[in-house]
Amino acid sequence: MTQIFKKDYTDYKKLIDDKLKRILDAIRDNKMPKILYHAMRYSIFNGGKRIRPILCMMAYDATKRQKSKFKSQNYEEILPFACGLEMIHTFSLIQDDLPCMDDDDLRRGKPSLHKQYNEAVALLTADVLFAKAFDLFAQAPVTDQIKVRTIAELADICGVNGLAAGQMMDILYQNKKLKTKNQKLIDQKKTAKLIAGSMKIGAIVAGAPQKTIKDIEKASINLGLLFQITDDILDKAQDSKVKSQKFMAEKYARSTILNFKKIGGNFSDFITLTNAILNRNA
Ligand code: IPE
Ligand code: IPE
Ligand code: MG
Ligand code: MG
Ligand code: MG
Repeated sequence: MTQIFKKDYTDYKKLIDDKLKRILDAIRDNKMPKILYHAMRYSIFNGGKRIRPILCMMAYDATKRQKSKFKSQNYEEILPFACGLEMIHTFSLIQDDLPCMDDDDLRRGKPSLHKQYNEAVALLTADVLFAKAFDLFAQAPVTDQIKVRTIAELADICGVNGLAAGQMMDILYQNKKLKTKNQKLIDQKKTAKLIAGSMKIGAIVAGAPQKTIKDIEKASINLGLLFQITDDILDKAQDSKVKSQKFMAEKYARSTILNFKKIGGNFSDFITLTNAILNRNA
């Protein structure tokens, strides 16, 4: 996936990784059990693709009036949001791997957090990351109005309309035959909402007009659905489903691209990215 998009992807990722390191370095000397700090580092620097923070920064670049592309000093206002979103993603994966959820021993080819440490450490590291994400939003160098809007968006991503509800439904419907419509609802809540929200937050921080934010949401919800279904295909959870999943992936990709085209302007990078996600092998 990163091949087609290599130059920008690598540049964005470096900015995000550097900022995440700085954030964690600043936490290191806090009076907290060191195991929590090490577990945070382990889960944050474990080979993630950083797709959500990259989308956040791309949406910021695409909607900001004064262009700031790749002048790192100009990204100081958006980086806390990008990193907070990666922390929410990491929190969700730690939970997702727990024995009471997907019960996965491996994450990105390495022991999942509860295997590397234990369940209590995993649970509390997830809590710390969750809280830190909101803290980063609250401390970001933006106006109070932008803070309130983005914090409300983040709460919506995580809560009863988002991640928590989607993951709960995923568990309730495990091993049951689901109608496309219901599968879509689950994927929308557990995955697409964070992906779309990452882009919306990038646009809110850039000061984009409400209409553009709505258009971005429409296009990126489908991008999120595409992301989850290509993840399911890669997981090959149920081989019998792959054919219909590929059909749905193409459908989501088409509507994502159509909606990005409608926004026009600086959104051509997102079309490249959508095609890269459709054809990804990792
Ligand atoms: C995995 O997401 C979980 C899903 C929502 C499908 P990613 O594929 O973005 O995970 P990493 O962070 O790159 O490993
Ligand atoms: C997405 O679903 C996980 C979250 C929304 C947290 P999966 O359970 O398919 O994710 P992977 O395959 O474990 O990364
Ligand atoms: Mg899961
Ligand atoms: Mg899982
Ligand atoms: Mg999966």
